[in-house]
Amino acid sequence: MSTFWVACAVIVSLYVAFWHYFKATTWCRSQTCLIGKTAIVTGANSGIGYETALDFAKRGARVILACRDKNRAEVAKMKIVKETDNENVVVKIVNLASFDSVRDFAKNINETEERLDILVNNAGLGGVKDDKSDDGLLLVMHVNYLSAFLLTYLLIDLLKKTGPSRVINVSSIAARFTNFDVDLINNYTGAYTIYANSKLCNLLFTMELAKRLKETEITTYCVNPGVVQTEIFRHVKGYSKVFINIFKEDFFKTCEEGAQTTIYTAVTKNIEEYNGCLFDNCKVVDTYPTADVKGLPKKLWEKSVKFVELKPEEIMY
Ligand SMILES: NC(=O)c1ccc[n+]([C@@H]2O[C@H](COP(=O)([O-])OP(=O)(O)OC[C@H]3O[C@@H](n4cnc5c(N)ncnc54)[C@H](OP(=O)(O)O)[C@@H]3O)[C@@H](O)[C@H]2O)c1
Repeated sequence: MSTFWVACAVIVSLYVAFWHYFKATTWCRSQTCLIGKTAIVTGANSGIGYETALDFAKRGARVILACRDKNRAEVAKMKIVKETDNENVVVKIVNLASFDSVRDFAKNINETEERLDILVNNAGLGGVKDDKSDDGLLLVMHVNYLSAFLLTYLLIDLLKKTGPSRVINVSSIAARFTNFDVDLINNYTGAYTIYANSKLCNLLFTMELAKRLKETEITTYCVNPGVVQTEIFRHVKGYSKVFINIFKEDFFKTCEEGAQTTIYTAVTKNIEEYNGCLFDNCKVVDTYPTADVKGLPKKLWEKSVKFVELKPEEIMY
């Protein structure tokens, strides 16, 4: 065989292998109806969060779009209502870079909503350097993890009262590839590392939350959505940006594809035995070795309680 044909075979094989690894999608086939149920999706105005909210609205849920920008959220709401004919889609504003805003949002939910069946901690950002949040913490860690921790914590009573209910935490494959030190979660160690650490925190939080709530009807699942063509990469610069632009069309999942595992864990019946587990492509997978460290989820929980400065009247678990 000539060198030309060998090269062609290698290129095609690589293409197929990459396609299969990144793009192949298992679809959520659950027909679960959500009429009468309430779901909150953070970061629901774009990407994976938008597709998740759209799916819940199609199933008849009351869907709360928890977003920071009123205009973007209202545009998303209009599109969802138009596509689903479900008028029960509402926008509630929360800035996950501020613990005060999270507390105000949770207070509003606890005072105005009768039930909460599904909470999806989806909002996130990446490719950001050492920018600080309103509370002076690393922005990425604050938005991607610490606010999700606080929000969930403050909504536990409502989730408990509603039960069975579910909390879904959106993580990333990046959580597998990081050198994590729980004592340094607020130390800047590079844009990739801080993102990966925050996504590992999402997984560790899921594991510990499941343990602490095992006597309740709340279950919790962690999701790796895959690599998805969303706006999350807008802050990425340099060679990484070039790489993303070359590969995204062929190899990254569409937003709808990327939302499938989140939707699966939120609506599929009889997955409670996997409480606290990690899901990828609509199936349960082994936890990442970076999370499989004795005592680490508990240590992170205790550290998080300090970071979010839980008030005495808030401490329950
Ligand atoms: N895309 C991927 O390949 C990929 C891979 C693994 C994991 N994930 C995870 O998937 C989740 C969803 O991201 P995406 O890919 O769908 O990206 P996206 O389209 O950029 O969506 C992120 C959402 O988070 C919101 N957000 C950011 N900062 C916020 C803040 N301070 N307060 C409230 N909301 C805030 C954004 O709101 P604005 O529109 O106002 O900025 C947006 O709605 C993230 O947790 C991400 O880490 C994504």
